[in-house]
Parts: sequence; structure tokens; C-alpha cells
Amino acid sequence: MAQPHDNSAKYYDFVFERRFGANYSALTQHNLSRITSLAPKGKILDFGAGTGRISIPMVQEGYEVTAIDCSSQMLQELKRKTKDLNLNIAIHQSLTDVISQDFDIAIAIFTVLAYIKTESELKAVFENIFNLLSPGGLFMLDLEHREGYDLICKRNNGIVHNNTGDFVKVTFQENDSNLCEYCEEVQGTLPNGEVFNYSERFMIRFWTINEVRSIFNQIGFTEIETFPFANAQYLILKKIL
Ligand SMILES: C[S@@+](CC[C@H](N)C(=O)[O-])C[C@H]1O[C@@H](n2cnc3c(N)ncnc32)[C@H](O)[C@@H]1O
Repeated sequence: MAQPHDNSAKYYDFVFERRFGANYSALTQHNLSRITSLAPKGKILDFGAGTGRISIPMVQEGYEVTAIDCSSQMLQELKRKTKDLNLNIAIHQSLTDVISQDFDIAIAIFTVLAYIKTESELKAVFENIFNLLSPGGLFMLDLEHREGYDLICKRNNGIVHNNTGDFVKVTFQENDSNLCEYCEEVQGTLPNGEVFNYSERFMIRFWTINEVRSIFNQIGFTEIETFPFANAQYLILKKIL
């Protein structure tokens, strides 16, 4: 089944770097420094790894990295980059394909959990991650703040970005106030001269911190820290047996 980003994966890095500029590299630096301070070495599971924004620098730092993404095309980009850079990352499309159960840290960051629309699917993801961690292992995740998008809807009719070649709009659903249609129309020219344009439309869910807490509490995760950064709330969970 086609997944969000399947028809735009080739342009994802270019578009996100152009869209967020210096904030994007600041986010990456912040994420990396938190992850490396939580787990100074070892095995990391990057759930929703995308094109490897975190997986690639982590493997370059000496971590053993397993990357999971349900978009075959995002994984294609990640594979191309690891080949070009001669890096070794274990890559899978589903958590259920991962065999080893001794990860020091798992991450699901930069809106990954918003792509999951049902509570049963979210619970299965938390359960799988719990089972793949070593005792004492950590799970770092982030949840987008819905309030920022509410303001955009009130003031700007849901238009999140409207710069040259980059139009993004969100539309909240009337029957479910945390579910929203994400729509983007993008065009540009890659550094190699390739001219591109694409449009994507998919649903995302703004999970509240309480909804997520009630799920991870049932599974047995212990929350050890939470902090805000860049329109998201981060949570650090621990598998305490
Ligand atoms: C906005 S990207 C973030 C990528 C990466 N985590 C980062 O920080 O740059 C979200 C990614 O999550 C992936 N994703 C969403 N739901 C997923 C699921 N159920 N299983 C695996 N990957 C998923 C999407 O395919 C997409 O590549």
C-alpha cells in the first residue's frame, strides 16, 4: 500500500532543508545531543527513520543503528545514502522484522507518531518497541503541539507554509478534532538541475500527552523526563523490569 512520502522521498531532504533552514540543523543538533547524552554508546532503533536525518550521524558516531520506515521510497533514499557514504545500517520496513531484542535506546521523533491514526496501532508500536529494548532501555519520542496549528488555522486559514515553491495546508476534521488532513504542493530545482513538482495529501493525528501516557503506562514504560523543543513535547521513557 502506498505510504505518505512515497512519491516525494527523492526530494524530501532538499524540501525540508529549504523549508526549515537553520532551524532544521538546530533541531538535528539538539536531537543528537539529547540521544547521545541518554545513551553514550550502543544500539539504537530509529522508528520512522525517514531518509536518515538521525540514523546517519548516529552510525557515523559509532552506534549500531537499525532504521525502520514504512515508506519503501524513504528507505530507498536511506539505502542510497548509506551506500554512497559506505555506512552499515540495518534497514527494515516494519518493527516486526527486527530480531535482536537488546536495544539501548529507541527513538520516534519529528512527527513520526502523528502518522499513526488509531490507538490500537499506536499501542502495538509501543509494545513492539518495549519488547525490542534491553532492560533499562530508553525510548525518546516527540508529540507535535496542536496549539500551534490551531493558531495557524485561526489566523491563516490552515496555511502552514506559503513560500516560493512550497505550499502546506492543514485542515482539521469536523468529526474528530485531533485528526487533520495534511496537504502539500511543492516544486523546485535540485542542485543537480532536476526540476520537480509533487503534491501529497495524507491524514495525521495530534496525540495528546495524556492519550500517549495511558498507552505506555499499560505497557509498562516509566516516564523519566519530558521537555518542550521546537513546537513539540519530548518524552523519555524507560523499560524498568
Ligand atoms: C516526518 S518523517 C521523520 C523522519 C525522521 N524521523 C526524522 O527525524 O527526520 C516521518 C517518517 O515516519 C515514517 N512513518 C510513519 N508511520 C510509520 C510507521 N507506522 N512505521 C514506520 N514508519 C513510519 C514515515 O514514512 C516518515 O518517513
